[in-house]
Amino acid sequence: ALITLRQLLDHAAEHGYGLPAFNVNNMEQIHAIMQAADAVDSPVILQGSAGARSYAGEPFLRHLVAAAIEMYPHIPVCMHQDHGASPGVCMRSIQSGFSSVMMDGSLLEDGKTPASYEYNVRVTRQVADIAHACGVSVEGELGCLGSLETGKAGEEDGHGAEGELDHSMLLTDPDEAADFVQKTQVDALAIAIGTSHGAYKFSQKPTGKVLRIDRVKEIHARIPNVHLVMHGSSSVPEDWLAIINRYGGDMGQTYGVPVEEIVEGIKHGVRKVNIDTDLRMAATGAIRQHLAEDRKNFDPRKFLKEATKAMSAICKARYEAFGSAGMA
Ligand code: G3H
Ligand code: 13P
Ligand code: NA
Ligand code: ZN
Repeated sequence: ALITLRQLLDHAAEHGYGLPAFNVNNMEQIHAIMQAADAVDSPVILQGSAGARSYAGEPFLRHLVAAAIEMYPHIPVCMHQDHGASPGVCMRSIQSGFSSVMMDGSLLEDGKTPASYEYNVRVTRQVADIAHACGVSVEGELGCLGSLETGKAGEEDGHGAEGELDHSMLLTDPDEAADFVQKTQVDALAIAIGTSHGAYKFSQKPTGKVLRIDRVKEIHARIPNVHLVMHGSSSVPEDWLAIINRYGGDMGQTYGVPVEEIVEGIKHGVRKVNIDTDLRMAATGAIRQHLAEDRKNFDPRKFLKEATKAMSAICKARYEAFGSAGMA
């Protein structure tokens, strides 16, 4: 059944677990996520970006999600819109039937210029008023995602602030978070604690702690009833990186967020964990490997099935690590 983000995260908070939110654009990704959830009995958050909507086409995306819900009636599914750059994008998602929307007012509509606090409050509040009247949940974001080492947002071709970021923007302030939630009435709050989007998060293999979990604790202590969201939470699997490069790919050496640090965040109020890059890498690696090893194959179902299997294994591992397995 389709349920709201609020319902899912209230349950997660009550039982002390976190939920991965995987980005979806096509049938194979949705298959992978649903098969894994079915295998371990986890609730599901599917999230679509504006880019996903233009890739698949709004009716295709809508019907793919409807198909997932029809095929797995026993699994609670939230359909969430990722990184709405304007109230208009959020309104179109509500019209399309999404049960949750993210208004990302931390950046202006261009998706790269850091916005003022007042702008963020205004647009997020506007979306929350309308979404809540429609029974739809809202996620907001306060702070700018980016590396604490370099002050850079990370992803070059997607979401993320351009240029060098002021250090204070890279860590969400607990008092400002409390004021923001009170003024906007969001159901969930994405915070900046040192993660960034895309594959190139850390250039060195993380030894100690790479995230500011101490800041998560401070924010959670200040607003204990607010569900916290971690974006940029792919772990960038080393095995898939090696497979991609072994079979003709050319990705640079890079490291992601260790799963153990996410689990630490979940102990302190993180309830939604956004993951896109990990599934992209698993799919690409599996397809490259299949096509290299079975050079006579020209049936796309064979390599797409390998991609689905690879993505599903990651979904299952995250459901288990974050504690959502058994919670459907
Ligand atoms: O944070 C962004 C997600 O990874 C979605 O990326 O806009 O390329 O679909 P996208
Ligand atoms: P990754 O690039 O780390 O997978 O993060 C995805 C994300 O935050 C989507 O909103
Ligand atoms: Na989101
Ligand atoms: Zn994100």
